[in-house]
Parts: sequence; structure tokens; C-alpha cells
Amino acid sequence: MSKAKILVTRAVFPGVIERLARCFDVESNQGDHVFSEDELAQKLRGKDGLFCTANDRVGAPTIVANPGLKAICNMAVGYNNIDLDAATRAGIAVTNTPDVLNETTADFAWALLMATARRVTESERWLREGKWDKWRFDAFLGADLHGSTLGIIGMGRIGQAIARRSMGFDMRVIYHNRSRLAADVEAHANHAQYASKEELLRTADHVMLALPYSPQSHHAIGAAELALMKRSATLVNIARGGIVDDAALIVALRAQRIAAAGLDVFENEPAFDPAFLDLSNVVLTPHIGSASAATRRAMADRAADNLIAALTGGSPPDLLNPRTQSKS
Ligand code: DGY
Repeated sequence: MSKAKILVTRAVFPGVIERLARCFDVESNQGDHVFSEDELAQKLRGKDGLFCTANDRVGAPTIVANPGLKAICNMAVGYNNIDLDAATRAGIAVTNTPDVLNETTADFAWALLMATARRVTESERWLREGKWDKWRFDAFLGADLHGSTLGIIGMGRIGQAIARRSMGFDMRVIYHNRSRLAADVEAHANHAQYASKEELLRTADHVMLALPYSPQSHHAIGAAELALMKRSATLVNIARGGIVDDAALIVALRAQRIAAAGLDVFENEPAFDPAFLDLSNVVLTPHIGSASAATRRAMADRAADNLIAALTGGSPPDLLNPRTQSKS
């Protein structure tokens, strides 16, 4: 019997390609050329499965143009790059990689928060530029984390992992979420207290965004929300570009309407707004929240597990649209 055909859209660990090749006829892109949506639609002709990343847009036209496709397996927990409704209508199984990246992403959220609040990258740039000629009492004064209030918007598994880490800093945690968490879950998340979005923005010293992107969360933080925040506050986004209105944030940072921002994700990334580069009160990283060696490997293996299950009659562990299970 001939093997099912799959496409791997981007370079991934060779060991994962070898695993997939034991089960499938694999077309892989180890040269790591980024496919346009049209190129992706072409490459998918005749394929049964797709192993893709959060940077590959898999929209309705691509899905409709490839009726033989049975599974789309994203190597990411976020799946806003895939038109889930169109895939479901077409009977295609869609999967993501939840859980394996929670702790690594929470670690990184703290790295970004600390770098932002304590001006780590800004002061390092200054030092590297040879500007350090004397100590000053007011050089690079930042904001304390210990004893402050952390506001987390989006209290899923990553948000909760971020909250747990705040215990060591003796912080108060408030959160906003679509629904309030059970009391035992709140207790485990450093006794996080539910707040309205407005109350959180007004009260928090540090605002952390950990919510998924959706049409409902598009520009959840814009000019009006930034205006509610304390002037001394920091904003950190480790979630998705588009949740923050980047143009509004640039205006707020320039006017020092808030103290600083730490951003791992951007609208239109990797082509982010170059105006960020002129601002000293923003820390910028290239979407690396889950980028530890072990976690990226775990994500790739999880996407491979999902694809193997979807195309060999098993149950993909992370199926997002269970109604489609019969097609594969
Ligand atoms: C995810 O898993 O959604 C991360 O943002 C990596 O893309």
C-alpha cells in the first residue's frame, strides 16, 4: 500500500522529519523558504496531510483548493493562522500543540517582564555604545516587581503558569478572563483575584497578555485601554500580534503614557512597525516565547504525533474539531 503524502512547510528538527518519513511520503522544506498562501495551496496538491507552523496562513481558499487534504497539524498552541471553520466544513482534522509549551512560555514571559521593568536591554545597549563613564543615582531607574500587582489578561494554562511564578516575588495577582476560574485553580495561581478588564488596567503595575487571538480579542488593547493604565505601568505581550493595536501603543510609549512595553509578538510580524525601533522604552523579541530547545522539539514531536494519528486511523491527541474525525 502506498504511503500517505504530507507536506512539512518549514525547516524542523531532522529527527522529526525521519520519524514522519517512516510513516509518510514526505515533501519537506528544510531550505526554509517561506511559502506564500498561493504557493502553499500549490504545494498541497495531492497531499493528505500538512505539518505547518503558526507563520503559515492556511485560509479557506487553500483548504477549498485541496479537497484531498485530511489533516492540518500546527506546530503551535495558537491556531489563528488556520481557518478552522473552513477546515471543519471540508472534513479536515485540525490539531495544535497545547500544554508542552506552557512552562517555557511562562518562563519567557517573566524574562520579558523583568527586562522591561528593569530596563535590561536599554541599559545594555547604552553600555555597549561606550557611554558608561560614571555611576549616577538615577541611571536607568525602573519599576519594582516584588510587592507589585501583576494583571494577567487571559488566564488559560500559560496565564496560570505565569501567575504561579509571581509567588517568589510576593506579588498580588489579578486576572481577567472570558470566565472566572474555579476557586481551587485561583488558589493554585497565587490566589489570583478576578477583575474586570477596566479594573485590571487601572490597578495593575504590570499588565501581561496571555490570551489567544480571535476576532473578539483583536485590538483588545488600544488607545482607550492604554489610557486606563497607570503611567508607571508596563505592558507585556507574549500572546499574539493583533491583540495590541501597535500604532496606538507606539503613540502611548512615545508620549510616556505608560512606562514601557515588552513585546514578543507584533501585528504583521515579521514585518513589524519600524517606529518601535526608535523607542527606548520597549523591549522587542522575535516571537521566541516557546523557544527552548527541549520545548520546540516537544512541540514538533507533538505535531508529528497528531499527524501520524490523524492519517493512520488513530485519535489525534489535540484534535480541535472532533466532528471531522470520520474523514481521516
Ligand atoms: C504558539 O505555540 O502559539 C507560539 O506562539 C509559537 O508559535
